Amino acid sequence: MDYKKKTKTSAKMFAKSSKLHVNGVSHNIRFYEPYPFVVKSSTGKNLVDVDNNKYTDYWMGHWSLILGHGPKNVKESLKKQIEKSWMYGTVNEQTIKLSELISKAVPVAEKIRYVTSGTEATMYAVRLARSVTGRKVIAKIDGGWHGYTSDLLKSVNWPFTESESSGVINEEKIISIPYNDLEKSLKILKRHSKNLAGVIVEPVLGGGGCIPATKEYLKGIQEFAHKNKSLFILDEIVTGFRFRYGCLYPTMKLDPDIVTLGKIVGGGMSIGVMCGKKEIMEYADTTGKKKSERSYVGGGTFSANPASMTSGYATLKHLKSRKSIYLEINSLGEFARKELNKIFDGRVAITGKGSLFMTHFLKGDITEVTNSGQAAKCDSQLLQKYHFKMIAQDGIFFLPGKLGAISYAHTKKDIKKMVLASENF
Ligand SMILES: Cc1ncc(COP(=O)(O)O)c(C=O)c1O
Repeated sequence: MDYKKKTKTSAKMFAKSSKLHVNGVSHNIRFYEPYPFVVKSSTGKNLVDVDNNKYTDYWMGHWSLILGHGPKNVKESLKKQIEKSWMYGTVNEQTIKLSELISKAVPVAEKIRYVTSGTEATMYAVRLARSVTGRKVIAKIDGGWHGYTSDLLKSVNWPFTESESSGVINEEKIISIPYNDLEKSLKILKRHSKNLAGVIVEPVLGGGGCIPATKEYLKGIQEFAHKNKSLFILDEIVTGFRFRYGCLYPTMKLDPDIVTLGKIVGGGMSIGVMCGKKEIMEYADTTGKKKSERSYVGGGTFSANPASMTSGYATLKHLKSRKSIYLEINSLGEFARKELNKIFDGRVAITGKGSLFMTHFLKGDITEVTNSGQAAKCDSQLLQKYHFKMIAQDGIFFLPGKLGAISYAHTKKDIKKMVLASENF
């Protein structure tokens, strides 16, 4: 097989990695058969593996690298910061600078708390919702992924009914609702209304299949939550600063209580953000509140470290100063979806929005993909084969089975090359 011939050093290194690490990896989704190539460097749109194969990257650091790998301005800012230090463990100027940008671009971010991953941000959002409402139940979407927090580790993988993991307790406190089906979702929510602390939703399902929510759906869920005095939490960890300079929610005239951010706002360094309305976020204020009243949320050792704050700031500054970036990458995404639709000629659903896109090979009675259930019933083996073929033969990298993200480092020529590789497949 081409892949094994061209990735001999990766094979040896991955064997070593497997002895040292569970599954050989440090994030379950990073493994694929027969073994993942091992990366030695990355620049712009490219990853280079230890056998010197170059791949046009559409995984883009879990979709966090909107400006590509190692963009010049972010690199220069980081170099300067690292000369000064990369860890203070104290209040620092870099954090204040990033927060000033975020709070201007995301109106609901009246108060901000930094952590070091999206998982932590959503975990604290759940705790905060419970503290504010005095209730215990959290509703999430079937197929929604919010990181590995035990508070939301349910109904992630089809058929959404089995436990995702041993070791998770109190799963009955997590309920799940079908995406883009308002009637069914409200029915479920109503059954739990008395105990419902909050609903957490992504405006575009990321891990669940790159599926945009309809405005009516999100509005309907929000309306129910607010009438019910439950919190409406938007997880914009994938969507924040992905389609425009800011979040997606203002474009739908939504009014979330808490928003979580991550990925892009850290510019490729570790970050998680929980932000929201002042009166909600103030439950996390520890000054003058009794233990029984406050919501005790992190940070941690590395939260708001000056390196992450600097790369986030440099990234947002760049996005802010060149709004044409969004026009360009969104239109490349549009082009990719249009061309892929053309060549697969009715046999696929190409989902996505702006610079995010995903191919679903239709199977059985599935004719469209508007929720994770439909996505799961598509031909996932064929999708794996398709992505793997591009890795092995075309020097194009999608994490097998996952959505593709276009960065500012990609060009129309790259998209055309990817479309041609798809056509050959
Ligand atoms: C919507 C969403 N929320 C939360 C997370 C968790 O973020 P992290 O991997 O930084 O913990 C992810 C990760 O992909 C995500 O897509």
